[in-house]
Amino acid sequence: MADVQSELELDENTRRLYLSKVNEIVEEHMRSVEGNKLKPYGLKSDKGAGIRNNGIDEHGADLDEILNAVKDHVLHDGLQSNHSNNFAYLCPGGVFSSALASYLAAYTNPYVGSFETNPAGVRMEHMVIDWVAGMMGFPAGYAGNITPGGSNATLLAVTAARENINVRCGDYNRLVVYITDWTHQCFRKALFTAGLKETVIRKVPVDAEYRMDVKILKALIAQDIEEELIPFMIGSTIGTAVIGAVDAIGRIADVANEYGIWLHVDAAYGGFFVLVEELKDYFNDVCRCDSIIVDPHKSLFMPFGYGIFIVKKGKILQSCFRHDSLFVTTMQDEEESPVNISIERTKPFRALGLWLPLRLHGVAAFRRCLEEKLCLARYMYRSLKEIPGFRVGPYPQLTIVLFKYDTGNETRNNDINRELHNAILKDGHFYISSAIIDNNFFLRTCILNSRSHRNVIDEFLSTLKKLTTCLLQTLGP
Ligand SMILES: Cc1ncc(COP(=O)(O)O)c(C=O)c1O
Repeated sequence: MADVQSELELDENTRRLYLSKVNEIVEEHMRSVEGNKLKPYGLKSDKGAGIRNNGIDEHGADLDEILNAVKDHVLHDGLQSNHSNNFAYLCPGGVFSSALASYLAAYTNPYVGSFETNPAGVRMEHMVIDWVAGMMGFPAGYAGNITPGGSNATLLAVTAARENINVRCGDYNRLVVYITDWTHQCFRKALFTAGLKETVIRKVPVDAEYRMDVKILKALIAQDIEEELIPFMIGSTIGTAVIGAVDAIGRIADVANEYGIWLHVDAAYGGFFVLVEELKDYFNDVCRCDSIIVDPHKSLFMPFGYGIFIVKKGKILQSCFRHDSLFVTTMQDEEESPVNISIERTKPFRALGLWLPLRLHGVAAFRRCLEEKLCLARYMYRSLKEIPGFRVGPYPQLTIVLFKYDTGNETRNNDINRELHNAILKDGHFYISSAIIDNNFFLRTCILNSRSHRNVIDEFLSTLKKLTTCLLQTLGP
């Protein structure tokens, strides 16, 4: 049979041409985002339906046509998560060097699931995990995974905790987990996925700073034991998604140790603030916890697609995930193969997407960026306090600032602040979230984007003042 050149194998010239075309689209897009030509949020009237005219069929299409479809329907629509004026959710901006590493990893495609197939790739994953574990002060014996995000990392934490407790599935309905109203939904998703749907979920009230109330936690545990339930896992948080509250990890660890309960820390948002000297105390006792997750695609400014899970008793991951391979391997692993300690087998070379930017820019660059965000959030908080009529929420423990216009009447406040939120979104220069806290409607800004600087905050404050004045004039007294 004659050799047939596969149409899927592009020659070098074509690859260079295609790359330049993609690069052109990327640069054009980022010029629009950075030059504020694109608003941080905007939906086209067809809400993306136009992409449906670019169906997958037997015959290929022209790359220009394809890239234009992506540009028109995807890039120019919806949330510009990289935009400096996007303060919604937890969007870090996504550093270019990581995107570059993703391309390098994707096209060269090393298989980094096992030590045998790519020892350095495996070592690199462990280096990234060692770096995080070292900052958190974990003693030797930990293990971890780089995951696609925090939710997957949480699933691994719940799976490890379940493996750790010697309880038959018939007793799963006697297990109790302790979280708060502000615990991220991924924790409940993880319980469900790990087969722990029947587990009792205790919502521990929070204190005035929206942190888990440790005294009540302890009382609930004692009561559950008395009722012959099995306290199983505490889900604490460093940086709740809505408020950014940081639980008192040390005091929770005291309770967890006293009763022998697995303590998990969700530091998906807050985790990399460990780099900021001033916030180090938040992390003093993380080393006493059983598991932690951190999201580089939040407070390490990486593009979406990166979570990290670390468990103190690393060996537990082998009991969860080590199974006989269908293939015979010949080489002795000098470092543990990710496949033996992770749910994934074939996976992208994520470690490169984290290691390369850290090597290129140095850790100090990330620290400075985090310090800047922290300063900006505090500046925003102080400035909002000074605007007549505005009331701020809790002092930002990290970089989330909550506020509202205060008429003195809570029912009216809720209506006015909803209107104000709509006015901000309609104006389009900024995109922010809102949240209900203690039955009150708050506007929420999260300053986490690498591109948001002091001038952006100032611009936001003047836009807010202008829109509030307009709104009050329209609504009347
Ligand atoms: C505190 C917290 N934990 C977990 C998650 C889930 O992480 P991911 O979206 O990466 O799955 C989020 C997401 O926003 C979060 O804010």
